[in-house]
Amino acid sequence: MSTDHVTRAQTGSTRRSFLQSGTAVTVAAAGLASRPVRGAEPGTALETVRLGLVGAGGRGSGAIENSMSINDNVKLVAIADVNARKPVSLLRRAEPKYGARVAVTSNKIHTGLDGYKRILDDPDVDLVLFATPPGFRPRHLLEAVEAGKHVFAEKPTCVDPAGYRICRKAHALAEANGTSIVTGTQYRRQSNYVESVNRIRDGAIGEVIGSQMRYCASGIWYRPRREGMSDTEYQIYNWMHFIWLSGDQIVEQAVHNIDTMNWIMGGPPEIAYGGGGRFTRPDDSQMWDNMAVDFVYPGNRMCSFMCRQVPNTETDNSNVIYGTDGVMTIYGGDRGSLMSDRDGTERWSMKGDIGAAYQQEHQDLVNSIVTGNPVVELNDTADSSLTAVIGRMAGYTGKNVTWDFAVNHSTLDMFPGELNYDGDMPNPPFAIPGKEPLV
Ligand SMILES: NC(=O)c1ccc[n+]([C@@H]2O[C@H](COP(=O)([O-])OP(=O)(O)OC[C@H]3O[C@@H](n4cnc5c(N)ncnc54)[C@H](O)[C@@H]3O)[C@@H](O)[C@H]2O)c1
Repeated sequence: MSTDHVTRAQTGSTRRSFLQSGTAVTVAAAGLASRPVRGAEPGTALETVRLGLVGAGGRGSGAIENSMSINDNVKLVAIADVNARKPVSLLRRAEPKYGARVAVTSNKIHTGLDGYKRILDDPDVDLVLFATPPGFRPRHLLEAVEAGKHVFAEKPTCVDPAGYRICRKAHALAEANGTSIVTGTQYRRQSNYVESVNRIRDGAIGEVIGSQMRYCASGIWYRPRREGMSDTEYQIYNWMHFIWLSGDQIVEQAVHNIDTMNWIMGGPPEIAYGGGGRFTRPDDSQMWDNMAVDFVYPGNRMCSFMCRQVPNTETDNSNVIYGTDGVMTIYGGDRGSLMSDRDGTERWSMKGDIGAAYQQEHQDLVNSIVTGNPVVELNDTADSSLTAVIGRMAGYTGKNVTWDFAVNHSTLDMFPGELNYDGDMPNPPFAIPGKEPLV
């Protein structure tokens, strides 16, 4: 168990402490309301946590496996996915492995863009896991909290400032409800990351003066349009390549590095300055394939960031933190951590185990529910998602983008006003710096 999640669990407000603190008045005055939460009243703690999954693709299936393999007291009872084939293939894999703990009857498999609402309305679901494309996350999340559900939300939790504000609201309401929100930022629970951050905080590399993050890969999937697909269906199917759904690489993928940096720096940066472009994307992709951003954190600490998805290029997924007395390198995946002197002499190292971290987040979440000690960590992940968003905005527009602008002034809201699964949706153009407006 990581020390970080203990801190998070201990600082999560319980329903009881919330009511005692008198914050109820503030929340009621703010107009926040939700349905009753099963298991929240004294003496009614849950023994079995019943899961409902929204988005049964790669990570949704992975999240169910992570949770069921580490928690004996969870049961999968409902699945929603716009693609009817996805729940079927998930169940085909999970049923033989977990037997009666997989109890999804045919009336609990939902399709359509509003399928998730059936899960939120279902009194048999305690915990909803969201693993759809990120563009849907803020609105789904808030509705789930309003429905009195505990939530697991994959990263990133928003792709624009409008979504960020919805996340903040959902976090506040979950605290008021006494429900949990754990997010898919697994590195915050990965032992070598936690050990590295603790060492940095203990002064092992001296004072942190700057850092460098890279998520450089050799590509990403692209799903060609299938015959008969509507525009909307196609964009949701090939969601990585449409910014309203994925946020581009910096948000969708590199949010892991950015989350690590915000964790180490103690919060989000003040300003972003960036650039980039695209050479290798398919014509109808809206994504860039490379981006470099300088983030300035409070205290004039500079963090240089780079991401790339270009075939036949050198890959690197790492976070390097420079201190006055040494350097800490924390690699992505299982590659571990390495601390050295400024001259490169190794002082400490540790292996990584990302599989254990993926399980840990689900164990912490389910424990928080059964013990009645909610963990609400959405704000941190929303901050990291918005940090990535200001990096993208800086790159796309070619302008300096401040944290204050994004939080308090930006009107950027990419979620379509109306969404019809069978409807038309023009293919959006990719951004050109100097032409893309900063809004
Ligand atoms: N934490 C991690 O390391 C990690 C790793 C991979 C993916 N992810 C995140 O998980 C999420 C899902 O990624 P993935 O790789 O599983 O994608 P995927 O395309 O494999 O799965 C997404 C699923 O959501 C379904 N879907 C789309 N829109 C929906 C809607 N409105 N309602 C219901 N279902 C809908 C799709 O049909 C698909 O089955 C993304 O946010 C991604 O960034 C996190």
